[in-house]
Amino acid sequence: MRHFLTLKDFSKEEILEIIDLAIKIKKQTKKGKLKPYLKDQTLGMIFEKSSTRTRVSFEVGIHQLGGKGLFLSSNDLQLGRGEPMKDTARVITRMVDMVMIRTFEQSKLEEFAKYSKVPVISGLSDSYHPVQLMADYLTMVEYKKDKNPVVAYVGDGNNMTHSWLMLASKLGFELRIATPKGYEVDEAILNDALEFAKQSGAVIKVGSDPKEACKGATVVTTDTWVSMGQEDEKEQRVKDFAGFMVDKQMMALAQDDAMFLHCLPAYRDYEVSEEVFEEHSDEIFDEAENRLHAQKAVMVWLDLHR
Ligand code: CP
Ligand code: NVA
Repeated sequence: MRHFLTLKDFSKEEILEIIDLAIKIKKQTKKGKLKPYLKDQTLGMIFEKSSTRTRVSFEVGIHQLGGKGLFLSSNDLQLGRGEPMKDTARVITRMVDMVMIRTFEQSKLEEFAKYSKVPVISGLSDSYHPVQLMADYLTMVEYKKDKNPVVAYVGDGNNMTHSWLMLASKLGFELRIATPKGYEVDEAILNDALEFAKQSGAVIKVGSDPKEACKGATVVTTDTWVSMGQEDEKEQRVKDFAGFMVDKQMMALAQDDAMFLHCLPAYRDYEVSEEVFEEHSDEIFDEAENRLHAQKAVMVWLDLHR
């Protein structure tokens, strides 16, 4: 049985296999001919943090596949009152067929998976957001940006950045990360990525100059400066991230037809200017829709590998 907790656990071939499946599933969905791959299965969806996209896409996704989603907020679960993750896992996974969890520490996901009888999917942790990257890569494929991509990530060294590190280092493309001083990526995750890059041929560049990162990039991406759980740091972060907004001038350094991706929610005129956001809104909202199709592929793939 496999879990989907981080792209670190997946080979290039497996990632591309899931992307191919997502393309097939999206086509079937658009034609109204999606096979009920997960007929009568139940997906438990545990949320310890807020969500719009992750909740809607998983719940609609499992429904489209012939199953049922069960929304479980930690505010309502005994988990929120201190019942251990490992007990929650041993109860819930005797009753459902698959589980998605959005939580804080990656170790909580790992703990749940250790005691789980069914495949577990990360719906984001403080360390990674792997299902988002599957949607992002699917969007790159659709916009024909998957051939020799040069991706510039400008902003906070967070769960999104770490997932980009995994995707690039597994698939073997160039990723340039620019973060302000003090907001660098996690060193252990970077080292893992550099190890994978030796095998895949990926070029990983880490620095603090956003302009340098964007020069000639084929894809520019960013994320909020204030992730969930960091609300108290907002004022300080806004000061520290001065010069890191992706605006027209920044995009002008990238290739003329460069795409701009954002996992959303976006904070206009902080990490991205209103102008850049609206100019690239087709790509951004295709990316958001692709959460639905990419995650259906992840669920079907995990079901095939149990
Ligand atoms: N991108 C993303 O995961 O969005 P939500 O927080 O709305 O789920
Ligand atoms: N880095 C953001 C991503 C939101 C989808 C956060 O963790 O809040």
